[in-house]
Formats: sequence, structure tokens, C-alpha cells
Amino acid sequence: MARKRRSIYDLYQMKEKGEKIAWLTSYDFPTAQFAQEAGMEMILVGDSLGMCVYGYDGTVPVTMEQCLVHCEAVRRGAPACFVVGDMPFGSYQSSDEQAVDNAVRFLKAADVDAVKLEGGVRVSSRIQAITDAGINVIGHIGLTPQSSGQLGGHKAQGRTAETAKLVVDDALAVQGAGARMLLVEGVPPEVTRYIWETLDIPVLSIGAGPHCDGQLLIVSDLIGQFQAFTPKFVKKYCNVAKVITDAMKEYVSEVKSGVFPDEDKYCYHMIHGEEDKFKKLMEK
Ligand code: KIV
Repeated sequence: MARKRRSIYDLYQMKEKGEKIAWLTSYDFPTAQFAQEAGMEMILVGDSLGMCVYGYDGTVPVTMEQCLVHCEAVRRGAPACFVVGDMPFGSYQSSDEQAVDNAVRFLKAADVDAVKLEGGVRVSSRIQAITDAGINVIGHIGLTPQSSGQLGGHKAQGRTAETAKLVVDDALAVQGAGARMLLVEGVPPEVTRYIWETLDIPVLSIGAGPHCDGQLLIVSDLIGQFQAFTPKFVKKYCNVAKVITDAMKEYVSEVKSGVFPDEDKYCYHMIHGEEDKFKKLMEK
């Protein structure tokens, strides 16, 4: 039976009832199917796909075209989840018009439910413009990977009183500009709690503690697939890298020893009686 697609109002109701929202990144069709089946309310097609799928060092090289292709696949895999398209670096930096045009592309090409973009005060006019175009925006503040060059790397933000105030200023700017939700990344739980208690919109965390309306993790971290590094806030729920590598090693060994493929188990034999006919035919 087809499941009803989750809307922004369903997520607002969850906040009202104090139910936590489970949010995960996905980049492809099968993983999106697994996420929906597991009960995920939201999926982010993050520009983290640059690192998790394409093997780039960071998210900066990711293009709109890459994001759209992966959003389309995820939408097909998880028709009932609230799917968020991540606006890649360069897709909203130039102007409000550029931001609206690219947000519209996410909806038209991939039928996403919202777009996410990084920044607070400095992108508030972009958030306002996309919202005015009738598109749900999710703000993303704190540790914003696209500007990690300016932040001096992937470093937690808001750990001093003064920088914490800057994070709060960003949160207020995001809400003030009309964003429907806020994602806080890499910020101390004390600061996230203050933001959560101050804002009206749902506040979600990735590496920003438990005091908020829900959590986001990167699927490649959660399943133990991403190998380059593991941030402190990541909990690995399994180790698929080992499962997959062990399976591949076994396959290599069975190919070399001839154990695979077993002729009776893994082959299509000729129809009864056809082998003799075949041999005669070949003798002619
Ligand atoms: O691209 C992504 O997965 C993200 C998370 C790091 C929040 O933006």
C-alpha cells in the first residue's frame, strides 16, 4: 500500500507533541528505500555526497547537476519521506535570483520537499527570496562545511561566549528570514539548547547535542562506510566496510580456487536432450 508523503506540517506536529524527528542523508535509490523502511521521517541528499560518493576531499566541487541526479534517485526510493535537497557551493552565493532559480530546479527536477543552504545572517536575503518563491527552506548554521576554509577546517563553533552569541544571531536571522526549520552543526549542547528554547521553528542537530527536535547523521558514517575520518559526534551502528570487504575477499579467493561458480548451483544448464543434439550439430 502506498504511504502518504510526509509534509512540513506533519513535522511541525511532531515538534508540538515532543516527538523526535529522525533524519539521515541518502544519496541513492536503495539506501533511500532502506531509510524509509526503517522509519526515517526526513532524508537529506547532502552535498556530503562529494566525499561519500565521489571521493572528493570536501563539498566545494559538488555541482547542481550531481545534486539533482542523486535527489531524483532518493525521491524514487523514498516517496513517503520528507526529502531535502542540499544547495551546493556556488548555487546560491552570487545573488538572490541565482538562489531562487536553483531552488526551483530542485523542485522541478527532483520533487524535493525543501532545500537546505548554509549560513545565517550572511544568507538571510537568500532564505527570504526562496521562501517568497513558495519553497520550504532549512537553514544550516554552526560548522558549515562549505565555508570550512574560512572557519579554519571542520571545527566546532560557538565554544566561547562571544562566538556562541554569533551562532545565536545566525539562528535568529534564519528564522527571521522565513526558514521552516534549522539545522545546527558542531555546536555545544548548551548553545543548541538556548537556540531550541528561543526559536519557534523545529531545530535539528548534527553534532550539536540532544536538546532539540531531532537528529541528523550522515548515512555513510552511521553504517561504517566512510573511511577517511570519523567526527566525535558520529555513532557507527554497523561496519559495512568490513562486511563488504570480507565478502569481496571471499569471492576473490573462490574465483581463484575454482569453488565459484559451482556448476550445479549457479549455472543455466541446457534443456534436457539438447546437449546431444548440440554435439551432433557441431560434428557436421
Ligand atoms: O551535506 C551534508 O550531508 C550536510 C550535513 C553535514 C549537515 O550538509
